[in-house]
Amino acid sequence: MTHAHITTWFIAIVLFFVALSLHKSGKAKGFKVVQMILRLLYLLIIATGALLLFSISTITLSYIIKSLLGLWVIAMLEMILIKTSKNEKTTLFWAQFVIALVLVIYLGFKLPLGIPVFG
Ligand code: HEM
Repeated sequence: MTHAHITTWFIAIVLFFVALSLHKSGKAKGFKVVQMILRLLYLLIIATGALLLFSISTITLSYIIKSLLGLWVIAMLEMILIKTSKNEKTTLFWAQFVIALVLVIYLGFKLPLGIPVFG
């Protein structure tokens, strides 16, 4: 399940940048399609994350924070794309996205399931 989780959020982040570049090159239709695929991926990220969460016998605060940070990253991806499509300012959302992403990846790999990169 950890691999499915990592795969889904990784593909989502790649597609997020694909969507931004489509918008930049004026391909509104392509942007919309990628945005729809991304929404499906958000659900898969949440589903695989929830399965990981419920595979643990005692859910500690670190796991709750990890999950909330994951949801925060997803919310920021969605907000950045919506604001970008309306040509509105995205600076604040970008800042939150970077912070939340760094924290969630650090905490995800630090927690013991799957691949504990940071011990
Ligand atoms: C874009 C959003 C997300 C990113 C970038 C992300 C990232 C990660 C990473 C790097 C890991 C570590 C995998 C490993 O140990 O091999 C992980 C594990 C996990 N994630 Fe996420 N995640 C996201 C969203 C979520 C959401 C929404 C939830 C909850 C609903 C969630 C719950 C979990 C749980 C419970 C684990 C297991 C932690 C452990 O290794 O012990 N994640 N995630």
